[in-house]
Amino acid sequence: MPHVLILGTGGTIAGTASDPGRSWAYRAAQLSVEQLVSAVPELAGIPLATQQVAQVDSKDMGWATWRALGKALESAMADEAVSAIVITHGTDTLEETACLLHALHDGRKPIVLTAAMRPATAPDADGPGNLAQAVRVAQAAAQRGEGGVAVALAGRIWSARDVRKAHSHAIDAFDGGGAEPLGELTPWPQPQAGGWQCLQATPMPRVEIVTSHADADGWLVDAALAHAQASGQKLDGLIVACTGHGTLHEKLEAALQRARDEGVSVWRSSRVARGGVQPRDGDTWPAAGHWTPAQARVRLLLELLSARR
Ligand code: SIN
Repeated sequence: MPHVLILGTGGTIAGTASDPGRSWAYRAAQLSVEQLVSAVPELAGIPLATQQVAQVDSKDMGWATWRALGKALESAMADEAVSAIVITHGTDTLEETACLLHALHDGRKPIVLTAAMRPATAPDADGPGNLAQAVRVAQAAAQRGEGGVAVALAGRIWSARDVRKAHSHAIDAFDGGGAEPLGELTPWPQPQAGGWQCLQATPMPRVEIVTSHADADGWLVDAALAHAQASGQKLDGLIVACTGHGTLHEKLEAALQRARDEGVSVWRSSRVARGGVQPRDGDTWPAAGHWTPAQARVRLLLELLSARR
């Protein structure tokens, strides 16, 4: 029987507080994905399977979890009994995982990420409703032959390409960085089919993020270059969270030029919530488009990996 596979990775959706009245004092990633599913009456009778891929507070997300997730997704794509995949995730780095999956997935089956802002033990927990929504969205997407990556929570659906966390504590914490949410029947953006294999590469390139701000004099960039030289570890890339539409403090820019002269790839993104940095003819520094700085880091890592092949 075709079923939706729910992959658990942790997050607040699986979080618990010892005192439900003080739900801000909770620990993320405590309940299994099985327990999350059994707490949602709407899911009873729906053909589902669960798999615990990881159990992390997503602030601690990294390649180990992404590798495990890539392996689970690769198997799910090959399993004819799986019609769609739902991933439970923490909200903090959901935009990075979403962006990664959008880059790698080949579009064979729909993948829907969901999360929660309140732990499972809160009297007004949002996780059960979000999980039910994600399964509904995944089932409907599979029925219409959709094969991209989306994020379903708080009653809205976001493209994995656009989504980002936009509020640190509101229940409806995500937006599209200027892009609208997807309608129930809107086709999802085509994922980019980069392939899961690249997740297994070692070592991963090192890409760091620096911010342009008042008095940004490039001290951190020079310190990173000096450290790389002293330790023999290569700094491969830098994402700059720029002011406005990709502008840089002149002193930071001078340091970035020194980094580039040493072979470091530098991309500009924006520290502004909406609009990103769109590429223009004659750009001195490549623009990361609509990606947030954290997403641009993922994209540059993937580009550096593919340049290695
Ligand atoms: C996390 O990202 O794992 C914790 C915070 C959250 O899910 O809201």
